[in-house]
Amino acid sequence: MDNRKKEILEAVAESLSAIGVREVYLREGAASLFDKANEPRGSVPSPEGDKKELLASEAVRCEDCRACTLYNTRTNAVYGDGDIDARVMFIGEAPGAEEDKQGLPFVGRAGKLLDRLLEEVGLRRGEVYITNVLKCRPPENRDPAPEEVDACLPFLQRQMKLIAPDLIITLGLHATQLLLDTKKPMAKVRGEVFDVDGLKVLPTYHTAAALRFPAYKEQIYTDFRKIETLLDEADG
Ligand code: URA
Repeated sequence: MDNRKKEILEAVAESLSAIGVREVYLREGAASLFDKANEPRGSVPSPEGDKKELLASEAVRCEDCRACTLYNTRTNAVYGDGDIDARVMFIGEAPGAEEDKQGLPFVGRAGKLLDRLLEEVGLRRGEVYITNVLKCRPPENRDPAPEEVDACLPFLQRQMKLIAPDLIITLGLHATQLLLDTKKPMAKVRGEVFDVDGLKVLPTYHTAAALRFPAYKEQIYTDFRKIETLLDEADG
């Protein structure tokens, strides 16, 4: 077992022990999910019934995560929220002050704008799944550091595999560049559909950017109006 896995398992054991759990039995599926974190979508043997359970245990692991220094300053880790069977998954950058306080993604001003834009294309927040590249708030809302992104990435990879959406919408530069593995600016990629390991990814501007530059709002709306067609295409 490599050191990284050992560290995470030790952190999990410590937090379970703190709440009185003395013995843990690993199911084969759970262990292999861990090992296959970097394999392409579809390779994780997660029986449908286990999805809820696995996501819940990931969320617990996330709350106790100390893989980077952000645990020092977080109030809550913000794992994700929404329908775990959603066809559309949104990935933002990192929790802000309000998200850190509530433990939920996109509940501050940028989140309210996201809710409104979703409504405009006939979607409710409860029927999509929302998460971030980083699960903990960077102090003063600074940009995610590369080592923080690396440390947090396994959570996002497993989340993407377990949710297995038909469409991922990346909000803003950080999520977009990470998923597309590119350094291109938003203006060059936004509104285009990309295939990432068999997943459809549609990048658009971050709603926080649209609060500062209202012209982006119209462009996000234009991109969101593609959702229905893209889902129809996924139905074949
Ligand atoms: N901005 C993000 O990227 N994510 C949130 O959850 C809130 C604001």
